[in-house]
Amino acid sequence: MSKLRSLTAIAVLSTVSVAGTAMGAGLPLTIEPVNTEALPEVGEEWLTENPYRSQGEEVWQAAIDIGASGYNQNCARCHGLGAVSGGLAPDLRFLEAEEYGDEWFIERFRHGYTQGGVTRMPEFGELLGQKAAWAIRTYVESRPDDEAVGEQSARLKEIRDTLNAWAEGNGTPDPDAFKSELATIAASITTLSGAEVADSIARRAAQQIDGTPESYSLAAETLTIGLSAAK
Ligand code: HEC
Repeated sequence: MSKLRSLTAIAVLSTVSVAGTAMGAGLPLTIEPVNTEALPEVGEEWLTENPYRSQGEEVWQAAIDIGASGYNQNCARCHGLGAVSGGLAPDLRFLEAEEYGDEWFIERFRHGYTQGGVTRMPEFGELLGQKAAWAIRTYVESRPDDEAVGEQSARLKEIRDTLNAWAEGNGTPDPDAFKSELATIAASITTLSGAEVADSIARRAAQQIDGTPESYSLAAETLTIGLSAAK
């Protein structure tokens, strides 16, 4: 495992930025720090386009993992768990994954939103910083279209059950066949932002399968968790 990925795994709890309190929807909110040490530096000036979209798969994946944690701690309470909005605040998955969408994302992230003297969204720019902003951005824009996942759910459940059987030593494992079928399914799952690649359960499971019983049960678990979240 590369240095980058192993850092990501341990990064979540230690802090690089400082937690703070802000007002949100008239209530004080705790802003949770996001550890972004494992991500490439982006400089002082605020960029207008997501730098982690185009630096290769390893950086992209690390940004998603860090962004997922940052999002779920700081944004989910208003914008919805897993970036699926419950209607309290806009659904961020639809923000276009190109410069226009990025600029708008960063504008809101840095400055929040105040209406009639009431802070509806706190500002995060100073406290969380730019790397956290783009990590969260990368996470949000790569969410799969849950309906597209839903359409594949019958087959994904079959694959999951077969993987569980393989993990228990039943059947004749053919990991390459499943890896390629899952990759094909993954390619059919789109994002709502227009980002090219969706970070779907099919994609993750395809990557996890490596021919060992442990990898079959890990991939089966990935599918189970994702299927229970999908429509
Ligand atoms: C206290 C609730 C709250 C929290 C927490 C919150 N937001 Fe928001 N956010 C809102 C509201 C309300 C709006 C709608 C403001 C408007 O009308 O533009 C909004 C709008 C946005 C928009 C503009 C979306 C669009 O389609 O126009 C972005 C981007 C955004 N938020 C990002 C974030 C991120 C990233 C986080 C976490 C780091 C976050 N928000 C945390 C309430 C919140």
